[in-house]
Amino acid sequence: MSVSFDFTCRAVIVTGAARGIGRVMARQFATAGASVLAADRDEDGLRETCRDLDPERVATLVADVSTDEGAQSIVATAVERFGQLDVCVNNAAVAPHASIFDERAEVWDTIYAVNTRGTFLMTRAAGQAMIDAGNGGRIINFSSGVTTRGSAGAGAYASSRAATESFSRVAAIELSPHNILVNVVSPGLIDTQPKPLPPQMAEGLGKRIPALPLARPGEPEEVSSVVMFLASDASGYVTGAVWSVDGGAGIGTRPTGPVIDDDPRYDWVTGRE
Ligand SMILES: NC(=O)c1ccc[n+]([C@@H]2O[C@H](COP(=O)([O-])OP(=O)(O)OC[C@H]3O[C@@H](n4cnc5c(N)ncnc54)[C@H](O)[C@@H]3O)[C@@H](O)[C@H]2O)c1
Repeated sequence: MSVSFDFTCRAVIVTGAARGIGRVMARQFATAGASVLAADRDEDGLRETCRDLDPERVATLVADVSTDEGAQSIVATAVERFGQLDVCVNNAAVAPHASIFDERAEVWDTIYAVNTRGTFLMTRAAGQAMIDAGNGGRIINFSSGVTTRGSAGAGAYASSRAATESFSRVAAIELSPHNILVNVVSPGLIDTQPKPLPPQMAEGLGKRIPALPLARPGEPEEVSSVVMFLASDASGYVTGAVWSVDGGAGIGTRPTGPVIDDDPRYDWVTGRE
């Protein structure tokens, strides 16, 4: 099934667009008619993202979202190049894992600088440009399903993503008078992993995937379509919300057989003899 959106005459920023979900989002917004600024630290990856896209409507910028200078330059470039900014998708993130005993404070700080401070800096810069233009706008920030369950090694990553959820609720309130809607997309397990998979990762995923309610990883396109919905006119009454795109991972595990209740304590309830 394919869903189509029309973003003709809209200008969209996608950060972290050099690979993974960001690459797919940048390409899908462009295919839907948007003018797109694809931003990332990785110049080669950006080139690959934009290969075969119309250079009139798709621009790239090498920039670091964790610095105020980087965030401001991304927003200023989009406004200069396209004359407007309608949608800002703050997808760039890093997720190195380490146990709490192995985690180095500098690495912890860098994870927060990209994932949390970067989301704040981009939201502020994009929000200001949208306020100045006076036409409202959409900001879509990213989180992760790991914010609501424990996962060994994810101390910095999970907590940095949880912070983007709380921050986005505050931003949604502060920007609401300007008709700027701020929402969060929280993916579960999406197929952006390196290929071939490192052995330990392959083993972990081999156990986890069959237990997911939908028993498969998600495709980047399945995240992108929810982001496009949140960027579209179809979601005009949605702000401050967290949208899980996780195949049901957050609600439990796939049933392994039929439901049988043979607990004798409840014979009087069920009428079982
Ligand atoms: N893939 C998943 O299974 C999954 C699961 C949960 C949440 N997410 C979230 O989805 C988003 C995308 O995930 P992904 O798997 O596609 O990531 P990825 O690692 O494949 O890509 C992230 C991109 O962000 C860029 N980036 C990193 N730091 C940057 C910086 N300081 N400035 C600019 N660009 C920077 C990287 O160069 C890379 O191109 C992230 O926000 C992540 O937290 C992904």
